[in-house]
Amino acid sequence: MKKIGVLVSGGGTNLQAIIDKVHKKSGEIAVVIANKADAYGLVRAENSSIPTEVVLEENFADCEAFNAALVERLQAYGVELVVLAGYMKIITPSFVAAYPNKIVNIHPALIPSFCGEGFYGMHVHEAVYAYGAKVSGATVHFVNEEADAGPIIAQRAVALADDDTPELIQKKVLQIEHVLLPWVVEQCCLGRVSVDGRRVYIEEKSEEENR
Ligand code: GAR
Repeated sequence: MKKIGVLVSGGGTNLQAIIDKVHKKSGEIAVVIANKADAYGLVRAENSSIPTEVVLEENFADCEAFNAALVERLQAYGVELVVLAGYMKIITPSFVAAYPNKIVNIHPALIPSFCGEGFYGMHVHEAVYAYGAKVSGATVHFVNEEADAGPIIAQRAVALADDDTPELIQKKVLQIEHVLLPWVVEQCCLGRVSVDGRRVYIEEKSEEENR
């Protein structure tokens, strides 16, 4: 089974979805790493007997050293696929080079809208609301050297109602995320995902596999 490393910064509902739908089925979460000691994602991992680590940026000289430490810990657990599940820190080029097209991120909007620097978590939904967009959604993409700019693996849209607040938009988008992210992680674990430049292909299941 492919070994997965999940990075979290907060509540970890996306981590929970991966635990429920992928862990010990199509892949194995070898470690959950948080950049905050009180990230609730750590509790979710512990509840499922998954090893956890806390790596705090403040304990390192700079962002580069912090990212090198993350790579070192992931490699120590034999991680082959990295999943950013609500991870709010920058991934440096040397981290990307250690896991080329092997880092998957979930973004709570339809890239290339409402993404890039400053667009994370609730800020994204507030921007979608303020702009008056009629749809939003979730994007799962590979991580490259630029924020939210790597090849798109999968997207799903959701219609917004006129009276949806940023909180309601977040709720609608999270529901989609919890389906989309585990599905992508599963496809990666099963070796069904290939990348050709910016284009990502997911192999269709044969009829026999679908049965
Ligand atoms: C999710 O909506 C995720 O898409 C977003 O943070 C939330 C984390 O929720 N990620 C980003 O904004 C990354 N740029 P969770 O901790 O409950 O999974």
